[in-house]
Amino acid sequence: MLLTFWAELLRDPRCIGSIIPSGKPLGSAIAREVLVRRPGCVVELGAGTGAITKSLMAIRSQLSDLIVIEKSARLVDLLIKRYPSLNITADCASGLDKLRFPTEEPLTIVSSLPLRSLPYSELNAIRDAIGVLSTRHPGFRFIQYSYFGKVPFVSPGPWLSWAKKQVVFTNIPPATIWVLEQRDEGNVSHE
Ligand SMILES: C[S@@+](CC[C@H](N)C(=O)[O-])C[C@H]1O[C@@H](n2cnc3c(N)ncnc32)[C@H](O)[C@@H]1O
Repeated sequence: MLLTFWAELLRDPRCIGSIIPSGKPLGSAIAREVLVRRPGCVVELGAGTGAITKSLMAIRSQLSDLIVIEKSARLVDLLIKRYPSLNITADCASGLDKLRFPTEEPLTIVSSLPLRSLPYSELNAIRDAIGVLSTRHPGFRFIQYSYFGKVPFVSPGPWLSWAKKQVVFTNIPPATIWVLEQRDEGNVSHE
């Protein structure tokens, strides 16, 4: 698992964006965040070796669906071996708005995408796709972790804002969980 991750890191460092997969405590914290509200359909972007996926699988019975989108073909193969029953799509997250998810259910997106190292055009396309999906799905949430407490990216529109959640100090490096959701009084960061 680690060898595949590192081989992919060598092949395309900006796409992988981290020297080690996420740790279990980060996966557990993200799964708890997913369950803060009724999650509905959960889509995981950039699942990598499946460390966060494992925690999402543990709460799968509470989700209306769980779908994984991963760009690296080698990591997709690894994910299929690890989770044969999971709906895994080998695709780029920038096409997310072309996919159709049930509109009668909330939509929760969990992302491990290395947003700060992706090419600017790819980041822009992903951010635009998230903006489009947020207008289609009431109860939309986008959960992302970042390092060094940085806001993941500028909100795609004034109707959404970032809320800073738990910092998982036991992850290497420590990771801050952020949620992009409909703007309300509780949200603190308007970047
Ligand atoms: C930091 S790694 C994921 C770490 C993962 N949580 C783990 O524990 O293995 C980032 C992942 O995002 C994937 N990725 C990068 N850009 C992507 C894109 N545009 N669409 C889908 N996946 C992408 C990479 O292939 C990589 O697997």
